[in-house]
Amino acid sequence: MPNAYISGTGFYVPPRVVTNDNLVADYGIETSNEWIVKRTGIEARRFAEEGVGTADLAYEASVQALERAGLTIADIDMIVFATLSPDYAFPGSGVLLQRKFNVAELDPPKFIPALDVRNQCSGFLYGLATAASMVQAGGCKHVLLVGAETHSAALDLSTTGRTVSSLFGDGAGAVVVSATDEDRGLRTWTLGADGRHAEELCQKVWDIKKRPFMNVDADGNGVVPPEDMWAHMNGRLVFKNAVQWMIVSLWKVCEEQGIGPKDIDLLVCHQANMRINQYVQQQLGLPDEKVVHNIDRYGNTTAATIPILLAEAERDGKLKPGMKVALVGFGSGFTWGAAILDW
Ligand SMILES: CC(C)(COP(=O)(O)OP(=O)(O)OC[C@H]1O[C@@H](n2cnc3c(N)ncnc32)[C@H](O)[C@@H]1OP(=O)(O)O)[C@@H](O)C(=O)NCCC(=O)NCCS
Repeated sequence: MPNAYISGTGFYVPPRVVTNDNLVADYGIETSNEWIVKRTGIEARRFAEEGVGTADLAYEASVQALERAGLTIADIDMIVFATLSPDYAFPGSGVLLQRKFNVAELDPPKFIPALDVRNQCSGFLYGLATAASMVQAGGCKHVLLVGAETHSAALDLSTTGRTVSSLFGDGAGAVVVSATDEDRGLRTWTLGADGRHAEELCQKVWDIKKRPFMNVDADGNGVVPPEDMWAHMNGRLVFKNAVQWMIVSLWKVCEEQGIGPKDIDLLVCHQANMRINQYVQQQLGLPDEKVVHNIDRYGNTTAATIPILLAEAERDGKLKPGMKVALVGFGSGFTWGAAILDW
């Protein structure tokens, strides 16, 4: 069985920076830089312009990841696309990304299969387990795995929605998961879910149990009430469960590998809240230089946080071959996961 390793990383964030002060000045939200920084560590996020979609962000990150892996799209055997803000309700963003690469024009054409993963902030970890399993089973040599989000289109950017809208930003991260006979790569992973809390962090938009799936006015237009249109979050419950499951998952993968937290060279946490990650870091007893963050600059980019961090850490020289890397995340569902890689 081949090992599965990350052969290339890439990331893209849209150029428009929206600071906490911009939320007040440009959107009229009753909040403050102090409030947001103190509770979350977020100072700014990026918002994509109208007309830019999730597959567009993913494409930029994917081009970089392929380049750094020394591959072209023709080498890719599968696309795995993790997002909670897909371009359309259906089809998934994976096929839109595939289309942007003009695979039908390749000689010969390569109709790369594309799979969307709907596991929110844990999407990248669910995608990594899927991609690596495909590679280890021999079904694929190279899988393009992307986490990308365009949150800005679906945030209630008013005071009513501030608890959620001050947290999220747009961005994309991509990796290529490749087969290798070398003794490196993904060593172990764990995934979990607790569907009892599905509605505690949830954006319904429509309800398929309704007939039809959304209200319709006299002119035949769909009408979505605000409580369905915007995401709902029970912040305290999310915080409590995030801390608990991230720590449990990390201990589990460490135990499986027969290592302790002190053996981890780099901890890459999903970026939901700096306070959550500081607590996890503290419980594991890891020094600051072994942990990377970007929540201050990008906010929570959901499925994109971990691959963006990996790409940034590699470029900054903080992630080098041979390092033992731990990944961990938690999000809506609730869902969570962790993994250990020898980079
Ligand atoms: C969102 C979070 C920062 C809110 O902090 P909190 O201390 O739990 O705050 P609460 O939601 O209880 O709200 C407290 C008050 O602050 C207000 N508030 C919420 N967001 C605000 C903002 N951006 N600016 C100013 N005030 C805000 C609330 O309206 C509330 O006011 P009230 O007491 O007058 O009703 C915190 O719960 C959290 O980070 N949870 C985890 C969220 C997360 O990680 N989500 C993504 C998971 S992948």
